[in-house]
Amino acid sequence: MEEPSRPLSFSTLAVHAGEQAPPPGVYPVGTPIYQTSSFYYERSEDLDAVFEGTIPGYVYTRYGNPTTAALERAVAALEGAEGAVAFASGMAAIHAALLALELGPGDTLLASRDLYGMTQALFLNLFAPLGVRVQWVDMGDLSAVRQALEAQRPKVTFLETVSNPLLRVADVAALAELCRPHGTALVVDATFTSPYLCQPLALGARLVVHSATKYLGGHGDVTGGLAVGGAHEVEQLRAVAKLVGGILPPSEAWLTLRGLKTLPLRLQRQCDNALAVARWLAAHPRVERVYYPGLEDHPHYDLARRMFRPGCSGAVVAFDLRAAGAPEVLAFMDRLRLCLPAPTLGDIYSLVLYPARASHRALSPAQRRTVGIGDGLVRLSLGIEDAADIIADLEQALAW
Ligand SMILES: Cc1ncc(COP(=O)(O)O)c(C=O)c1O
Repeated sequence: MEEPSRPLSFSTLAVHAGEQAPPPGVYPVGTPIYQTSSFYYERSEDLDAVFEGTIPGYVYTRYGNPTTAALERAVAALEGAEGAVAFASGMAAIHAALLALELGPGDTLLASRDLYGMTQALFLNLFAPLGVRVQWVDMGDLSAVRQALEAQRPKVTFLETVSNPLLRVADVAALAELCRPHGTALVVDATFTSPYLCQPLALGARLVVHSATKYLGGHGDVTGGLAVGGAHEVEQLRAVAKLVGGILPPSEAWLTLRGLKTLPLRLQRQCDNALAVARWLAAHPRVERVYYPGLEDHPHYDLARRMFRPGCSGAVVAFDLRAAGAPEVLAFMDRLRLCLPAPTLGDIYSLVLYPARASHRALSPAQRRTVGIGDGLVRLSLGIEDAADIIADLEQALAW
């Protein structure tokens, strides 16, 4: 605050006292939280120039904020992208990605059959009524995808790097190759893999989306999303963010940025834990089948080895309890002490979920069986605890 020409009243001081721009030449080591909705300039013409885009700067947090921008730069760097835009959730990022690609009435959206349920609902409940034709395909069946691309000429093709909860891996490079001649924009939800395991843009995707609520934030304390891509796509995304307004607030961006710094440490440990637990479960008499792309019997074992960082196969494991239905699975989950029953994944905590009562609750048992989800299926998202402690917890819960 500039020196006033006369003493200020108490109420004026309450508003203005203490406010100070950072002293020149002093730099915080960590990015501060710019908890402000707008920015001012000493000269009005500078504000005008920032509005005009002729000089860089910030005017209003919905348009951009230094803390959020730091997160966006960090995620773009990790994805090998030209830019990224942060959103208030993964769902907001997916929605914005499709708007940025100008998916609209008369267009076709080709989508993976086993997408996250809420993404399916977004396509069916929001885009379909606007006149978008939503077509589903098994992304593991490349000839079915080729046929669908030829027959449907989709404007956008949408898939996840790894499906939930059966952990099928999509061959992003092969699918991008199929998409290329048809000019369909490939959008990849890489929430389950994060840029630590693979970078879909380098494999041919046009846009990558993340629920930052999962591995990017990683600590179970923030909800957020990111859409990542080339300069043109980022410009379109920014325009959508300005218009629709589902931006990531600076405090949430700061938490996500802090989480991101330990992404490789966390995820390496989580992948190591997942492999150890998957191997242990596979040998347990009460476990009928384990789904984990790091086990040799998984149908996408070779693909995962090719596509993911060496030694990493993801940090989620699913397994069928032998001869179990809802009562046995729920009792097993109640016996767990360390692994928490929470409907998310990617946290530092090991989390357990019963798909039939959570992500796939809306399906009938018959529909669930069609998509391969049995009544005894459990999903486990590995945290960063010691593998021996997680295994001991599972062991005592499986003793009945
Ligand atoms: C693969 C995937 N994509 C997107 C989302 C949505 O993310 P958010 O909950 O941050 O909106 C989720 C949430 O579970 C998810 O698992």
